[in-house]
Amino acid sequence: YTVTINGSASHPIPSTLYGWMWEDINSGDGGLYAELLQNRAFQQVTPQTPGALYAWSAVGGASLSVVDSTVTPSLSTALPNSLRVQIPPKTSGNIGIANSGYFGINVNASWTYKGSFYYKVPVGSTVKGSLTASLASSSGVKLASASVTIRSNATGWTQVQFSFKPKSTPSDTNNVFSVTVDGASTAGQTIYFALFSLFPPTYKNRPNGMRLDLARVLADGQPGVFRFPGGSNLGQSIAGRWNWRNAVGPLTNRPGRLGNWGYINTDGLGLKECLDFAEDLGMTSIMAIWDGYAADGETVPENQLAQYIQEAADQINFVIGDPAKSEPAALRASLGHPKPYPIAAVEVGNEDFFASDTYAAYRWRDFVGNLSVQFPNVQFMATTWIDNPVLNPKAMLYDLHQYSTPTWFAQNSFQYDYYPRDGRKYFAGEYAAISTDPNNLFGSPSQGRMLWPTIEGGFFTSFLPFRIESQVRFIGSVGEAAYMTGLERNADIVFAAAYAPLLQNIANYQWTPNLIGFDAGTVYKSTSYYVQKMFSLNKGDEYLPSTIPSQSGTVFWSVTRRTATKEVLIKIANTNGTPASLTFNLPYATVHATGTATVLTGAQTAGNSPSAPDSIVPTTTKFNAGKTFTYNAAGWSVDVLSVVAY
Ligand code: AHR
Repeated sequence: YTVTINGSASHPIPSTLYGWMWEDINSGDGGLYAELLQNRAFQQVTPQTPGALYAWSAVGGASLSVVDSTVTPSLSTALPNSLRVQIPPKTSGNIGIANSGYFGINVNASWTYKGSFYYKVPVGSTVKGSLTASLASSSGVKLASASVTIRSNATGWTQVQFSFKPKSTPSDTNNVFSVTVDGASTAGQTIYFALFSLFPPTYKNRPNGMRLDLARVLADGQPGVFRFPGGSNLGQSIAGRWNWRNAVGPLTNRPGRLGNWGYINTDGLGLKECLDFAEDLGMTSIMAIWDGYAADGETVPENQLAQYIQEAADQINFVIGDPAKSEPAALRASLGHPKPYPIAAVEVGNEDFFASDTYAAYRWRDFVGNLSVQFPNVQFMATTWIDNPVLNPKAMLYDLHQYSTPTWFAQNSFQYDYYPRDGRKYFAGEYAAISTDPNNLFGSPSQGRMLWPTIEGGFFTSFLPFRIESQVRFIGSVGEAAYMTGLERNADIVFAAAYAPLLQNIANYQWTPNLIGFDAGTVYKSTSYYVQKMFSLNKGDEYLPSTIPSQSGTVFWSVTRRTATKEVLIKIANTNGTPASLTFNLPYATVHATGTATVLTGAQTAGNSPSAPDSIVPTTTKFNAGKTFTYNAAGWSVDVLSVVAY
C-alpha cells in the first residue's frame, strides 16, 4: 500500500469525537456508582416477601421482614419500605443483619469507608447496648467495625453515621457488611432500619460518587463526550421512565425504579452525579430526555404530552438554567453547582425508529418545537434514521446506532462518506461488533454472539467458580478500528462516537459484549477498550487527507495531526491475518527519523478475559520514519503511528 498524505487539513477533529455512553445496564448500581450495599433501601420491592430481602440475611437468628408504611411510618415518601428486625426472646451473642454487597464487597486496608443507616425502636422499647457496623470476611474474620449506643428513646428515624478502616485486606471480595446488636441485652426487642449505605473512597472524593478503579480507567481514555442516561434504560414503561426529579438531591428523595434491564435502579447515580462525573473527566454531555415513548411499546398520546415536555424543560433548566430565574436551576445551585454544566446536545428519546410514526407525527415536533423556543442555544438530537421519517422541525443532529459483525464494521468504514454535507451532524452513539453471525446478531454465544470484545470477534467461554467467563474477540476490535478510521475521515459531519455498552459486571450482566468488565474488586479491559483509548489519545485536532483505502480491502487507515506537537498521527487497522506493508509519503520538509508505534495485535479469536486479563495489551515501539517510510502492520493489528513532521 502506498499512502500519500496531504499537508492541508480538510477538517478539524472535534474534541467530542470520542467519548463514553453510560446507562445502567450491567453497570451503574454495583458498578460505576461506588455504593457497596445492594438493596440498601428496599426500593421498589414487595414488602413481606422473601424477595424483598435480596442481598440481606439474618445474623444469629434474627427474624427479618421488609415492611411498608402501613406497619411503621416510613423514612420518607420516596422510601416507603423499611426493615423490621425482631430479636428472639431468649438469645445471646451477635444478632442482626448482613449484606453481601454487589456480588462481594471490596475490602481494602488502605481505605477509610464511610457508612450510615437509619434506625428506630417502638415506643416503650427497653433496648440497651450498641449497634455495631462491621465488615467481615466470608470465614467470619472481623475486618473493621464501629459501634454507637442504641437509644431506647429513638422512636423516630435516627441516622447513624460511622467510618472505619479495615485492619487487613482479605484475599478475595467474598466479604459481608453487618449491623448487629448484643442478643442478651436486646432479647425480645424490635428494631427498624432504613437506607443503609457504605462507600469506599470515591473518584475525586465526591460524596455519593464513583468507584475509583472504574472511573480511572474511563478517565484514562481521555473522553470528550458523555452520553447518559440511556439507552433503553431511559424508560421501560411510562411509570418507570427515568425522571430527573427522582434522581437528584438527598437519597431519601429517590424512590428508585425498575429499569429496562430487569433489576431495580437505586437512581443513586442520578442526574447531578452524571454531570459531575462528566465535569471531573472533562467531558461535555449528551443528555437524553424521555420523550413519551417507553421501551415496552407504550406511547403517550399527544394530548397528554405536556407534562413530559415540562419535565424535560425542567431537566434542561437543572443543567443549564439561571438559578435566579428557574426553580430547577436554583435547585442545582443549592446542591453546590451554581454555574451551568456544559452540554453538547439534548437527545430526544432513544432509538425512536422503533416508534417513528408518533415521533414524526407529534413527539419530535412537540418536544423540539416547544423546547427550542425556551432553549434557543441548545441543540436537539433525533434518534430515528435520517430522513426516515422526515422530521419537522428539521433535525440537525442524529444519534445513529450500529451493532453488527466485525466484517460489517470493516466493510462499512465508508458509511459516512456517503452522507450529505448539508449542515446535519451525526453521533455514532452506540456501536460494537457483537457477533460473527450477520443473520443472528443477538443470538447466543454458540451462534456467534461475543461475550468480551476480541480481536476478530469470535468467542470462548469457560466456567469459573463464580461466573461465566466471556471474551470480546480481537477481530471485533480490529473491525471497530477500521470503522473508526472512517469516523475520523468523516469528522466534518461525525461529531461524536461511543462504543456501547460501556461496562459489564461479570457476576451479573444483561448484555454482551461490553467495553470494560469488572467484578467487586477488579477491572478487566477488553481489546476494544484499548482501541478506543488508542484512537482517543491520538485523535489530533485536524484531519489530513491521504490516499483513500480500498473500500473492499482489508487494510484501513486515517491520518490526523496534533498541531501543538507537530505530530502526524496515522491509524491503521489490518483486518486480515496477513501482515501489510504500507509506504507513507509525508508532505513536510523536516520529518523526524524515528517515530513511535503503539500496536495492539493478537490472534483473530483471542481476547482479554477475567482469567487472562492482559492477553492482548498495546505495546509501544520505535520505527524508522522519514519523508517516505515503510511500516509493516502485523496481521490482525491496530497500529497508531506518531511522527513529528513540519
Ligand atoms: O447498548 C445496549 C442497548 O442497545 C441500548 O440500551 C439501546 O439503545 C440499544 O438497543
